[in-house]
Amino acid sequence: MPRLPEGFAWGVATSAFQIEGAPDEDGRGPSVWDAFVDTPGKIRDGHTARTACDHYRRYPEDVALMKDLGVDYYRFSVSWPRVQPTGTGPANAPGLDFYERLVDALLEAGVKPMATLYHWDLPLALEDDADGPGGWLDRDTAHRFAEYARLVAERLGDRVDHWITLNEPFEHMALGYALGEHAPGRTLLLDALPAAHHQLLGHGLATAALRAAGAGHVMLTNSYTPAVPFSGNESDLAAASAYDALHRGVFTDPVLLGRYPDLSAYGLGDTAADPSALPFVKDGDLAAIAQPLDGLGVNYYNPTRLAAPAPETVFPFDIAEFDHAPTTDFDWPVIPSGLTQTLVDLTRDYGEALPPLWVTENGCSYDVAPGPDGAIDDHQRIDFLDAHVRALADALDQGADVRGYLVWSLLDNFEWAEGRHQKFGLVDVDEQTQDRTPKASYHWYRSLIADQA
Ligand code: FCB
Repeated sequence: MPRLPEGFAWGVATSAFQIEGAPDEDGRGPSVWDAFVDTPGKIRDGHTARTACDHYRRYPEDVALMKDLGVDYYRFSVSWPRVQPTGTGPANAPGLDFYERLVDALLEAGVKPMATLYHWDLPLALEDDADGPGGWLDRDTAHRFAEYARLVAERLGDRVDHWITLNEPFEHMALGYALGEHAPGRTLLLDALPAAHHQLLGHGLATAALRAAGAGHVMLTNSYTPAVPFSGNESDLAAASAYDALHRGVFTDPVLLGRYPDLSAYGLGDTAADPSALPFVKDGDLAAIAQPLDGLGVNYYNPTRLAAPAPETVFPFDIAEFDHAPTTDFDWPVIPSGLTQTLVDLTRDYGEALPPLWVTENGCSYDVAPGPDGAIDDHQRIDFLDAHVRALADALDQGADVRGYLVWSLLDNFEWAEGRHQKFGLVDVDEQTQDRTPKASYHWYRSLIADQA
């Protein structure tokens, strides 16, 4: 393993809804994910997240695991409906108390907190709001989000230095609002775009609110995936570039360059030259979105292969499979060089406008049963992580400024529509007893961090 630069940060990541459980504790309100999980047929095998990893009660054990692992950072998310049960109004103090206990325990253990303000668990009341289109289709949600950011920063800002506003607004828009595979389960296809813009506006307003409350280091976390054309044919190249404009451009250009990419492939006109082609973009929005950032969070899992679409399809691309790539249990292709490419392409394409990069999620789903001695030998995950850290080192060699790497995830957890089926954890969690068992990959990561120190 190559030596990473002095001060390079190592970490692990989780999110509130996926691990906390305790949905009714201390005044927490319902989120769109509670409602979605309760909708028959939405979650594989009807799994629920009511207990999840019981982290709300067992966080001291999880902090101890991280201390032993030797990570510099723990990226967790704050549940908005714990802080504001209906998404508006004053803070629910017991909800914030939980995050204060967690943050204090982390600091005590020598692990720096990295708090994500929004990892998809919108207060349900904002979705059901009768006065507007609901959720992130509603411009007002951006303002509500900034107000929530202020409440959290006022309480935790003296102890949390690293903040992330949103997690993966592309996936939230695509899976939640366009395709209906995630909460809130809308199937608006291209009409989901306002949910992108309002999230970005929320990011910009929340960044300003965090700064006003004295936050030191603010990032946005996006998912990134190299868009690989199926072939060298012009129509496949056009499909890849259309996909890239939607996945990367829409969520990066406004933030770093203050403009939308050209979305003419979607019949929306040259939105880069003329933002009024997007009627939901109001005067001043792009300036509000393009706040200076201290870092850009990169979640990387795999590249995406794109082919020209079949006639009469809504999107100007079809997603195709890679030939010969090994896959994880989630059927995601294992292509570590895609991480190098992601980081190098961002560096080349955004130049001076790009803040330092942090890999805020990378990991893989493998379900490995314990051996006779109870040990879980998830060597596939070790191979995956090893190859991706090397791919990151290659990107550093090629000039990318990457400051940290965080594994998704510390614990096996509730993987959204897949329920408990996909095991991303360095640590196994018994769904009945909630016992934690570090896997071989945990021990591997611990040695890697120690060797790099
Ligand atoms: C990312 C999400 C995270 C987890 C991983 C596997 O898209 O941010 O919550 O589901 O994928």
